Amino acid sequence: MPKPMSKPAAQTAYVCGSCGARAGKWHGRCPDCGAWNVMVEEPDHTSGPAGAARFGLPAAAETARLYAEVDPVATERLSSGFAEFDRVLGGGIVPGSVVLLGGEPGIGKSTLLLQAAARVAAASGPVLYASGEESAYQIKDRGQRLGVGQAPIYLLAETCLERILDEVERLRPALLIVDSIQTTVSTVLQSAPGSIGQVREAATRLLFAAKQRNLPVFLVGHVTREGSLAGPKVLEHVVDTVLYFEGERHHSQRVVRAVKNRFGAVSELGVFEMTGAGLLPVPSPSRLFLSERAASVPGSAVLCAVEGSRPLLVEVQALVSTGAYGTARRTASGIDHNRLSLLLAVLEKRAGLSAVGEDVFVNIAGGLTVSEPAADLGVVAAIASSLRDRRIAEGTAVFGEVGLGGEVRSAGRAELRVREAAQLGFTRCVVPAGDAARTTAPPECALRGVGSVEEALAALAE
Ligand code: TYD
Ligand code: MG
Repeated sequence: MPKPMSKPAAQTAYVCGSCGARAGKWHGRCPDCGAWNVMVEEPDHTSGPAGAARFGLPAAAETARLYAEVDPVATERLSSGFAEFDRVLGGGIVPGSVVLLGGEPGIGKSTLLLQAAARVAAASGPVLYASGEESAYQIKDRGQRLGVGQAPIYLLAETCLERILDEVERLRPALLIVDSIQTTVSTVLQSAPGSIGQVREAATRLLFAAKQRNLPVFLVGHVTREGSLAGPKVLEHVVDTVLYFEGERHHSQRVVRAVKNRFGAVSELGVFEMTGAGLLPVPSPSRLFLSERAASVPGSAVLCAVEGSRPLLVEVQALVSTGAYGTARRTASGIDHNRLSLLLAVLEKRAGLSAVGEDVFVNIAGGLTVSEPAADLGVVAAIASSLRDRRIAEGTAVFGEVGLGGEVRSAGRAELRVREAAQLGFTRCVVPAGDAARTTAPPECALRGVGSVEEALAALAE
């Protein structure tokens, strides 16, 4: 934690994140439990206004109500103007919800939110865009490229939380965007911007404002080099929805993914392409992810994955080459590294294909990450193809989970996967035998059920 800028005012206290002890000033080490770097600044509730009043809530507590007597309210969701984005949100923006959009610098968070702001403003009323990172001029400059037009977006170049809340009070916007939570500071605390205390205070106050006014709020969050949301894991607990914006900076594909959503399913994907005129939704991502595929070379396999409710065809690439000086390297991008080691072991033991002493590189093309077990067979197929230097027949797609015994297990939602493959012109799917028995494939796409890795590799070589 950064050291606080100056001596704390009387209204704040430092609280140990580990044992909860309070102190009047910051300590590197908790005087009570001795833990290092855990003291976080907080408003001191023991002096000054009590918690409820501080957040502008009525002091009278609500009484408990019987479950059966609570009226189900049909919350009308706002559309972000992008079907791709709405799906990730679980069907649109829920009034009164706080959504955290995390992602690496330069990935396009501000761009996406400004584009959404324009569409929400045009359809549902004014949007307040508070930025602590860019001036109103800079935002306008970007907006002109994005074709924002005359939609009522209010720009506020401000880092002070209280000023932002004042403007919310004055403008009563339909949507609030805070870019970013790490630059937002409350005058109540003395800590530096981006410190855990500040970030938590700002997020909590914005959450209360959102619930009180039924105002949807988007927060931009930076991620650290390690890939987690900067500062606070606590932030993920405070907000309703956590989205990650992913992609490789040097590629145009961008993926929005939900990792937590109180109002919908997680692991839904929204796919966008970064262009000169901002982000464009990609309605058929499989086509995009396969677009640069070199006409089937050894080591390339097409995998039918499912992310959320949507099938996605991606290319798995493997390259097996002789390692230098016996130091075999295993590099995985887009799949789990441990999973790769496991699959290599299965290939050796159960299919007699050894990569001992060889460098193995596996990559999911397009910068995508695939985490479902059904990816196994795609990885195995690509590695085997590279090892044997033999191409997989054109028009073949695969999916299936691989067990330690070399068995190929059902992946679920086979019909969805096969239909997507057929739609993109694939004529053959090598799938788990269990799935093949339960699935009716479209006539133009033949199913080949396999029970083991060995059988799968034989089928792919046909
Ligand atoms: P930005 O939204 O500023 O990223 P973040 O807020 O996540 O840091 O996006 C910046 C990048 O997007 C920058 O490298 C330029 C690129 N970009 C385009 O390619 N086209 C566009 O129309 C815009 C606005 C940005
Ligand atoms: Mg930005």
